[in-house]
Amino acid sequence: MIDILLTQPAPAAIDARLQASYTVHRLYEAADREAFLDDVGPRIRGVVTGGAKGLSNALMDRLPALEIIAISGIGTDAVDLVQARRRGVHVTTTPGVLTDDVADMAMGLLIMTLRDLASGDRLVRAGRWGSVAQPLARKVSDIHLGIVGLGRVGHAIARRALSFNMTVHYTDLHEQPTSGYCFVPELIGLARCSDVLVLAASADQGQAIVTEEVLQALGPDGYLINVARGKLVDEPALVAALANGTIAGAGLDVFADEPHVPEALFGMDNVVLQPHRASATEQTRLTMGEIVLKNLQACFSRAPLLGAVTI
Ligand code: DGY
Repeated sequence: MIDILLTQPAPAAIDARLQASYTVHRLYEAADREAFLDDVGPRIRGVVTGGAKGLSNALMDRLPALEIIAISGIGTDAVDLVQARRRGVHVTTTPGVLTDDVADMAMGLLIMTLRDLASGDRLVRAGRWGSVAQPLARKVSDIHLGIVGLGRVGHAIARRALSFNMTVHYTDLHEQPTSGYCFVPELIGLARCSDVLVLAASADQGQAIVTEEVLQALGPDGYLINVARGKLVDEPALVAALANGTIAGAGLDVFADEPHVPEALFGMDNVVLQPHRASATEQTRLTMGEIVLKNLQACFSRAPLLGAVTI
């Protein structure tokens, strides 16, 4: 059987099907990673990984027989695509199927943050309902929403925002201003005219675009929602902005150095934190797993791939 490497756990049903067709090796269970790679690395022909985890060049170098990196996700920023192409290694993703879940997470974080749902929950659980004045939250309907990145996910967020009667503004490095929403060329201008800035961009520009200046432009009544990549944000600047009231709050599904989360955020009531799980619904993760299975099979039988990434 063909040897494949899993960098992170797969849903049980997908894992069972992988095991039925392949010899599965699990990097995430290896006690001694070096010894593990010395042993199985030369036999590995396929890697299954996530968008955020990807595959480092150092690891790719340990897999001389590698033919495919099957990403269960849409992000390719954690794989060196030039190096993969140079090596003749296919890279595939699972586009389209997680769009709605990621947009739902963005809206969920937005509502949870502006309406302060976590502190309401804490108040009820602590038995303090009725004994303290309830803090008033921020209205969600009718606000100005700034979307950074109007790709599939950005469009899905915009569609949801319209049903809340929000005014949608956006900026996008790639897309021309033809969408029907209000295009703002500069991120700083977008932050200035938005009550909430939502990051839905890919991270292929490789640098923090939400800087201290952008946070200042968002202002003391503004909120940041991030369902894209943590490294799009200057994280120390964000932590400072949340602590000193430069912005009002944030809803974060992603962080610069996952799974590390800046400790200062844990004590902040104006922040909602999630463990990078925007696409983590049962239905979507199974569909993503199906696509991964099809791509592995297609690769090893020399058939056309689904969602092949080209550069
Ligand atoms: C993706 O698909 O890139 C998501 O962020 C999960 O990693």
